[in-house]
Amino acid sequence: MNNEKVQIFDTTLRDGEQVPGCKLNTEQKLVIAARLDLLGVDVIEAGFPISSPGDFKSVQEIAKIVENATVCGLTRSVKKDIEVAAEALKYAKKPRIHTGIGTSDSHIKYKFNSTREQIIERAVAAVKYAKSFVEDVEFYAEDAGRTDNEFLARVCEAVIKAGATVLNIPDTTGYCLPEQYGAKMKFLKENVRGIDKAILSCHCHNDLGLATANSIAGVINGARQIECTINGLGERAGNTSLEEVVMILRQHPDLKLDTNIDTTLLYSTSLLVSDSMSMPVQPNKAIVGANAFAHSSGIHQDGVIKNRETYEIIDPKEVGVTESAIVLTARSGRAALAYRAKNVGYELTKLQLDEVYQEFLKFADTRKEVKDDDIHTILKRCSVYKEI
Ligand code: KIV
Ligand code: ZN
Repeated sequence: MNNEKVQIFDTTLRDGEQVPGCKLNTEQKLVIAARLDLLGVDVIEAGFPISSPGDFKSVQEIAKIVENATVCGLTRSVKKDIEVAAEALKYAKKPRIHTGIGTSDSHIKYKFNSTREQIIERAVAAVKYAKSFVEDVEFYAEDAGRTDNEFLARVCEAVIKAGATVLNIPDTTGYCLPEQYGAKMKFLKENVRGIDKAILSCHCHNDLGLATANSIAGVINGARQIECTINGLGERAGNTSLEEVVMILRQHPDLKLDTNIDTTLLYSTSLLVSDSMSMPVQPNKAIVGANAFAHSSGIHQDGVIKNRETYEIIDPKEVGVTESAIVLTARSGRAALAYRAKNVGYELTKLQLDEVYQEFLKFADTRKEVKDDDIHTILKRCSVYKEI
């Protein structure tokens, strides 16, 4: 397998932590950063150092402990931001400054009361200044999703000339369709002079539920970095979910793209982040949700018990989940009941199962789910109980 690598840039500790109620203290951030390093992410965006003394300290402490990943700090295109980020990152083995500015007409007019020409000047000045502190400088064109492609290409060309090593093309408002976002990447790849000197990066928000699809469209069209968060946490409806993009690339070898992620650590990392941020994961969340490997309808359960692949495209062990769950509900069939009864120590003959199943259905109609304890209760109500 000679798959090309897509860099995973994790921003759980920056964009993810911007979620109301998800604030972490430095201790918690250090535990998560160490875990992300173990998981194999290529870049950890540790925070926005100028935003508060606490964030500065967290970025500094993370920079000291991370062994493998690049540690990155966010800045605006403002000298003071860049100086403070450089200071916070000074102990990092591999430091990166992530600087940028809004490039859409709406940002230029309403946020900056400026002009396109002035925005290019500020972008270039910021990259050059960041470059005086670190070699690795990533530039973000905020609201690139709604930025005119021709102008975006001019901005990219100018910041590459100024020394940017990575070009982040954020769909800040989660507006783009996958085809549009993919076409934007393709346009930049084909029209920006010097593009071979830099990596294009996807940074997608989930306002229309398209962050993952857009990031995949981005890498299909030439981007080689995805910015994402554990559990898809992030501003408003969230960012691209790390576990989703990683598993999509794993599940589709035809794309000839892969990441450095140790996927067996995905589930435990999701639990760690959810617990630290007190932010529950929705049960039907792809890859790491409680129901991602749970089967409850009789037809599906029968298939999975015969062969997991009938209804599962991922082996749960691949993402660190011990086994698929056969959930007993009033929609479950005999095969699922026999399987779960066996797990709690009752091997039922076909005849015994016929009676137990009728009793099970009566019971299950009164419950959302039938648990292991309930199986004992059901069995005790059956005449076959004395035989088993
Ligand atoms: O969504 C966005 O545009 C961002 C930038 C600050 C990188 O998070
Ligand atoms: Zn963002």
